[in-house]
Amino acid sequence: MTQQPQAKYRKDYKSPDFTITHLDLAFDLEASQTRVVAKSRVKQLTEGADSLLLDGDSLVLKRVEINGSSWSNYEETEEGLLLSDLPAQFELLIETEINPEANSSLEGLYLSDGAYCTQCEAEGFRRITYYLDRPDVLAKFTTKITADKASFPFLLSNGNKIGEGELENGRHWVQWEDPYAKPSYLFALVAGDFDLLEDTFTTKSGREVALQIFVDKGNLNRAPHAMTSLKNSMKWDEERFGLEYDLDIYMIVAVDFFNMGAMENKGLNVFNSKFVLANSDTATDTDYLGIEAVIGHEYFHNWTGNRVTCRDWFQLSLKEGLTVFRDQEFSSDLGSRAVNRINNVRIMRGPQFAEDCSPMAHPIRPEKVIEMNNFYTLTVYEKGSEVIRMMHTLLGEANFQKGMKLYFERHDGTAATCEDFVKAMEDASGIDLGQFRLWYSQSGTPVLDVTTAYDASAKTFAMTVKQHTPATADQKEKQPLLIPFDIELYAQDGSVIELQRNGQKVDNVLHVTDAEQTFVFEGVNEAPKVSMLREFSAPVKLNYDYSDEELAFLMVHARNEFARWDAGQMLLAKHIKANVARVQSGESVEIPADVIDAFRGVLLNKELDVALIAEVMTLPSENEIGGWFDVVDVDAINLVRDAFKSAFAKELEDELSAVYHTLAQDEYSIDHAAIGKRTLRNVCLGYLALNGQGDELVNAHYAGSKNMTDTAAALGAANHAQLPCRAALMQSFSDKWQHDGLVMDKWFMLQGCNPAANALENVKAQMSHPTFSLKNPNRTRSLIASFCNNNPVHFHAKDGSGYQFLSDILIQLNESNPQVASRLIDPLLKLKRFDEQRQKLMRAELERLASLNNLAKDLYEKINKALEA
Ligand code: TRP
Ligand code: ZN
Repeated sequence: MTQQPQAKYRKDYKSPDFTITHLDLAFDLEASQTRVVAKSRVKQLTEGADSLLLDGDSLVLKRVEINGSSWSNYEETEEGLLLSDLPAQFELLIETEINPEANSSLEGLYLSDGAYCTQCEAEGFRRITYYLDRPDVLAKFTTKITADKASFPFLLSNGNKIGEGELENGRHWVQWEDPYAKPSYLFALVAGDFDLLEDTFTTKSGREVALQIFVDKGNLNRAPHAMTSLKNSMKWDEERFGLEYDLDIYMIVAVDFFNMGAMENKGLNVFNSKFVLANSDTATDTDYLGIEAVIGHEYFHNWTGNRVTCRDWFQLSLKEGLTVFRDQEFSSDLGSRAVNRINNVRIMRGPQFAEDCSPMAHPIRPEKVIEMNNFYTLTVYEKGSEVIRMMHTLLGEANFQKGMKLYFERHDGTAATCEDFVKAMEDASGIDLGQFRLWYSQSGTPVLDVTTAYDASAKTFAMTVKQHTPATADQKEKQPLLIPFDIELYAQDGSVIELQRNGQKVDNVLHVTDAEQTFVFEGVNEAPKVSMLREFSAPVKLNYDYSDEELAFLMVHARNEFARWDAGQMLLAKHIKANVARVQSGESVEIPADVIDAFRGVLLNKELDVALIAEVMTLPSENEIGGWFDVVDVDAINLVRDAFKSAFAKELEDELSAVYHTLAQDEYSIDHAAIGKRTLRNVCLGYLALNGQGDELVNAHYAGSKNMTDTAAALGAANHAQLPCRAALMQSFSDKWQHDGLVMDKWFMLQGCNPAANALENVKAQMSHPTFSLKNPNRTRSLIASFCNNNPVHFHAKDGSGYQFLSDILIQLNESNPQVASRLIDPLLKLKRFDEQRQKLMRAELERLASLNNLAKDLYEKINKALEA
């Protein structure tokens, strides 16, 4: 490390001295020597300013001109190009040379399987040319692309096509113009040969928009679901948010090499092919739903992100939290609201809560950043969405939409802040969000401790709610937050008891504002059963001493589906926790019959949505369970969770088997009813695989499968239960799909999660599989990240072999792709959550990485925090 990387602070934000209003780009594409000519119109903003630092990274400077003449008053520095003695307004020309072929970081301009593409968010544009690469500089772009015509028949960029032509030597060019001023991170360029799926969408005001999806040659039959999802997104945003698309063309390109899910570049989204390509042979139901959500997410960014963008990167949640909220609402309006909510809450209670108590803990609006790529986190995205959702709960849909309207009236075409958004919501609704704003600046997961008291003579029911937020690595002192706390009371016969306080009917959503508060309800004629934190009304942990009987009651009688599921989860949590303690003190696992019976009741309940039954029957993950303890005992947790699975399998065998057989479907379709049936049937399969006839059943399921959902379920069940048929099924799958990396990712994931004793040796062996490559982020995530994150017993092996394996890989990725390395390291940062011996081993690997002399900023920031803590 030549120089210690420097942190930037939110409080130090300063508007730039100059801005750029127009940028004309010209690319001459060559694999190792691409020329970029950037002509910008620069305007002074701060009176008297005469020097300007343009960001740049890995660029070879060829030419600088100002107002048409060569300019020599510049200096190339560590961070970029420092221009001096500048006039107040000028035209700047910069020519740079870049090397896309050598770019394995997948930021800036790179090659993905022979096609050129770009990824500029957050700070990748500076790898293309020297520029004010910050989101508060908004310019109108034109882009001219020149390349060989035979290899690159499609030359794409943002906006509308304004010209094209042929050149000698088989080259051709296309020029694009984006009429909307945008920051550099929304720039995109793609050049390649693709199959093209085309359609149109007519907006509510009658404009026709051309829709184009570009996929690798031969993949056209996997593009229709993405197109349907896009049209559904456009329609939904008009109906629910009143927002219409604003260009005449919307393009999506699917690429195999991509660091994240997808990118919302104006008019030209670039997608990880995982979130575009699907047909019933290659994609599972989960893949289909993921595509719908991500297509929606990127489309919704056109208003929340592009038309109104972020002033600086500390405001990232302004666009991401809000856009996740919008995509969650889209999926919920189109599918099952309860199932979507359950899946989102699982992410909060599992990985997001874990991030909140890790060395990387940060508020949804971070205060301090070294590498911005490290802050595309579950906290900024998922907790950010929960914060928007709480505002929606406090304001109601009508006021929330008034707030959105005011937000766009005030900020359309500008770079805004989180505070601007909250202020718009506050002004439009008249509701005071003063205390609520703390959710933006305070990190960590608040804990609610609730006690209740029923007074039979006064007919009152009192709930005392205490809140506290444990200190986090980044912030010691915490204050009480405004927590919307949604509750409902039930009488023994299941009827709802109306909430009354001070003689008045009150809303279900209580406002918890103090460290300790008591809510007294009147007119309560019997000791009630109380459903709490309904719909996960706030991203908090809830402690309340429920009896088994109360939870079993809520599983049946709670009026909303989410609350029923949650009661089941609490019942499981109570007994899983108790059994982890039993196992730790040398006793055996004991599961009371009434617990099993509560789940039997759900499984047999004909009135429930099958998709919900599937969720109720799914145990919390080992990681989520780990979050319930101060010191995570991976072995005991694994043993107890497996014991619960086996007990359900054995005790509910007849019911599971009956449900499994009645849910068989002849035809495949991807409507929500069919997905629900497959999901529950495959959950049943997962249990039945553990019983005597498991091998036969799973084998038959695989052989009879006519779609990838059932095929993957059979493989998953064989893998988890370590069935005799596992090896043959895995081989059969690999023989059939090894030409296709995306499909093989499902297989690599199972190798990563393999419970076998030799899991690590096997993972290492699979790195030589012809389809595997550490250069491809999807492959790396499916094999390596699944091992490190979802195979805790083996990753945390007591001899440290799992940790050592991860850091060996990180040493390679640190050079080739620091962004992927930095995501992969997360499980190693959480050393404080484990016993002394494991901590020591993890620390040793972190120290080994810290001593690398070329450590990228990405890893540097995380490792430093983990070692400091
Ligand atoms: N803005 C993108 C999204 O949420 C995120 C993204 C895509 C990204 N690619 C990236 C962020 C690369 C950082 C780096 O939709
Ligand atoms: Zn996003």
